Amino acid sequence: MCGIVGAVAERNVVEILLEGLKRLEYRGYDSAGVALLQDDGTLNRIRRTGKVQELVDAVTSDNALGTTGIAHTRWATHGGVTEANAHPHFSAERVAVVHNGIIENYLDLRDQLRAKGYTFTSDTDTETIAHTVNEELKAGHPLLKAVQNSVKQFHGAYGTVIMDKQDPAKVVVARSGSPLVIGLGLGENFIASDQMALLPVTRRFIFLEEGDVAEITRREVNIFDQAGQPVEREIVESNIEHDAGDKAGYRHYMLKEIHEQPTVVRNALKGRLEEHGLAPDIFGEGAENVLANVKHVQIIACGTSYHAGMTARYWLEQYANVSCGVEIASEFRYRKSVVHENSLLVTISQSGETADTLAALRLAKELGYMSSLTICNVPGSSLVRESDLAFMTKAGAEIGVASTKAFTTQLTAFLMLTLAIGKHNGLSETDSKQIVQALHSLPAKLEETLTISEGIEDLAEEFADKNHSLFLGRGDQYPIAMEGALKLKEISYIHAEAYASGELKHGPLALIDEEMPVIVVAPNNELLEKLKSNVEEVRARGGIMYVFADKNARFSSDETMRVINVPHCEPAIAPIIYTLPLQLLSYYVALIKGTDVDQPRNLAKSVTVE
Ligand code: G6P
Repeated sequence: MCGIVGAVAERNVVEILLEGLKRLEYRGYDSAGVALLQDDGTLNRIRRTGKVQELVDAVTSDNALGTTGIAHTRWATHGGVTEANAHPHFSAERVAVVHNGIIENYLDLRDQLRAKGYTFTSDTDTETIAHTVNEELKAGHPLLKAVQNSVKQFHGAYGTVIMDKQDPAKVVVARSGSPLVIGLGLGENFIASDQMALLPVTRRFIFLEEGDVAEITRREVNIFDQAGQPVEREIVESNIEHDAGDKAGYRHYMLKEIHEQPTVVRNALKGRLEEHGLAPDIFGEGAENVLANVKHVQIIACGTSYHAGMTARYWLEQYANVSCGVEIASEFRYRKSVVHENSLLVTISQSGETADTLAALRLAKELGYMSSLTICNVPGSSLVRESDLAFMTKAGAEIGVASTKAFTTQLTAFLMLTLAIGKHNGLSETDSKQIVQALHSLPAKLEETLTISEGIEDLAEEFADKNHSLFLGRGDQYPIAMEGALKLKEISYIHAEAYASGELKHGPLALIDEEMPVIVVAPNNELLEKLKSNVEEVRARGGIMYVFADKNARFSSDETMRVINVPHCEPAIAPIIYTLPLQLLSYYVALIKGTDVDQPRNLAKSVTVE
């Protein structure tokens, strides 16, 4: 989704801003722009629709220079994808603004500002920020105070950075609902919506908190809280690898990230899984007491993370004997729900910034959950900071919009949570041993599973000309079928639906014909015989099937069914293992179709607006 980069330095900041935007491309966007305060005291703005490279070319041919500047990648919400709607937005050639989030009362603000003589050149909500700040400046306030007064008038979410050409070598930033991180340099300081943007220039960061407004100059950073009081915020040293943004020889980030899964799952287990069980306190200080008292788990997430939660429900109820509810964050936050006794709220998120998930966590705090735990991949993110307990998945930076390694590490985390909660709720010795052993075998099994990649590449040829597809699974493989369908639609734009195969007769069988490939995930578990009956139902109606199966499941290829053998694994980890072939299938289908694998159309990596 939208990305922000800003810099105040003695040197020319153009390269820093453009490199920052490139590093934010993975989040998804449709236009980009930059505004620079030039030596002659004027503002220079360049904006382009399309890729950041188009902006880079325009900035290069303009020979743009500036020591204070702001830049933005926009993912359209209010107003179409046009240059006029791209950020930065100006007010009276004096104030320049970039903004992530949505100013919900922008229509009222527009009317008020129009009545004061302001004209609007875009359809965006953001332009109201520029004019509101300008109005405060005209009242004689310095930039900081003007922004502090302005934000009181905004409803909604914002991470915003503002420059005033009459107050050069300074930006003022404000955060409410959309993340902002200050990067500290030597004699220069930076701002961004994501630390990834600033890794080439600094590793020292301050994560702004809700309601913070900060004034950033070359030598100083002054932060004020919601009440306008000066505050000190912790300086965090980032340990994200500088080259996390490299493709390491792979054609796409997604393929690189698929292949990283054995390594990142190993990292996720390291120091947490011991020979016979979990290391102590892996869910953080005080977690043991919470987990010992959990009687219900409520999981909240969006997208792929939601599928991890769906899978976890099977595990938590089967092994850990606790009841578990799973809900999409955008539904949970807007309905009245009942809180079970001793209920643990678990949010799952790769980014830790998904607006709906964050809002659901905040709501849950009011509703009176016993405690909150987040399973998250980004240290210092909003969900991590606002949850009582946090478990980091350690997948490393995930750049491909379609989530892969974040998902399998989330599942790994959930299996560990199952052990931790189950320990207090009658998890059997046999199940405990089985899960621990399965987790130990997991990284190697993932490696082995990746070796079937070539067969899947061939298979992809058969999908590329299809418009629809059906994914089937049962039990804990049903959410994996859902995730497989999501991957295929995200990156290849083929319509894909997932069904619990027991539901086939209740509707989807009507769709079966040779134009509708049916993908089946079939590990050798207790539901295998039931699944086989469902496969026969499809075959009897002339359906063409692609079955990912354990070799002991005894499926054989024929003219209506192509079987792809997946290495045999322990039942507890089968959902994690079967995820990989489905990821690879989507990847290779997208490759044949020539879609933008890493930045699929219309999608964003981190959805920071609701
Ligand atoms: C977006 C991304 C998905 C992701 C979802 C939830 O839709 O494109 O890949 O699964 O957001 O994101 P989160 O960061 O909360 O896991």
